[in-house]
Amino acid sequence: MSSQNIYILGIESSCDDTAASIIYNGRILSNVIASQKIHEEYGGVVPELASRAHQQNIVPVVHQALEKAGITKDELHAIAFTKGPGLMGSLLVGTSFAKSLAYGLNIPLIDVNHMQGHILAHYIDEDGYKKPPFPFLAMTISGGHTQIVRVDHYFDMTVIGETIDDAVGEAFDKSGKILGLGYPAGPEIDKRAALGNPKAFKFTKPKVDGLNFSFSGFKTAVLYFIQREVKANPNFIEENLNDICASIQYTIIGILMDKLKLASKQTGIKHIAIGGGVSANSGIRKALKDGEQKFGWTTYIPKFEFTTDNAAMIAIVGYLKFLEGDFAEQNVVASARLKI
Ligand code: KG4
Ligand code: ZN
Repeated sequence: MSSQNIYILGIESSCDDTAASIIYNGRILSNVIASQKIHEEYGGVVPELASRAHQQNIVPVVHQALEKAGITKDELHAIAFTKGPGLMGSLLVGTSFAKSLAYGLNIPLIDVNHMQGHILAHYIDEDGYKKPPFPFLAMTISGGHTQIVRVDHYFDMTVIGETIDDAVGEAFDKSGKILGLGYPAGPEIDKRAALGNPKAFKFTKPKVDGLNFSFSGFKTAVLYFIQREVKANPNFIEENLNDICASIQYTIIGILMDKLKLASKQTGIKHIAIGGGVSANSGIRKALKDGEQKFGWTTYIPKFEFTTDNAAMIAIVGYLKFLEGDFAEQNVVASARLKI
């Protein structure tokens, strides 16, 4: 079969987004996402509700992805799906759906590691975006993960640093919750940070050796700070919200950049990529870009729609694995704690 004429369906259902995408030779034809609003009222993802919503969404989302791409399911060459890591109930929906569709169409099934998806999204053919050469460093930052990965080839990756407790997205979301913001709070903190003074309030950075991260202490520091200030002035949050957001964001970015600088120094690698929902943050994007001047880095920031959870990143991994003939068996099972 020619490697020049390949249509692959990617399916992502690891957390609270049901997503499907069609890739044609490395180029995305459609990228459909059904986000689950239901979790907003609970201030976080409720696993049981997520898996039920996936069940409702998956068929229409896949239909829409095919329709937008202008193909029928009979034209597909393979089906790629997220095997893990993620919420087991959510992963099971995508896995079972992908298995049955691949079986019904008699085409290969390809299992994808969600974290590799965030990293390999940089290899989607997209005008105006360059692909990182090997080796490069990838920092994946989202509501579920915070890692620095050394990438020597598509499927030769080594985690060289990761969080020992909360993910960086949780630091944004939990701080937002303390401030009374909606869920997820990251985007609103980002917006307000642009209007505030990042040095108005000082939060100490956690001391963690090497390339690992810790964010649970930071969240507690924000909580105690707010409790103390609100006791003295009940209107403290309303009167200072933009400054508080700017200071929180400034500290979090400082934590991320310190580790990234150390990783670059230790490995001698100056090609630096980011991925995951938090890479949508305008502050981290700017800090990374500034690194080009300051440290001689070449940086890679994905297109916005490929940063948060999406199926295009699953489809590109599917395509790369397809070219290597790396297929899954029909008895493949979802794995909530799948490692890179
Ligand atoms: O990758 P993603 O969509 O899902 C997970 O795998 O977790 O990331 C979601 C996370 C949430 O914590 C959200 O608050 C955060 O990404 N996020 C942001 C921004 N946009 C999304 N955090 C800071 N600034 C943003 N602009
Ligand atoms: Zn993710």
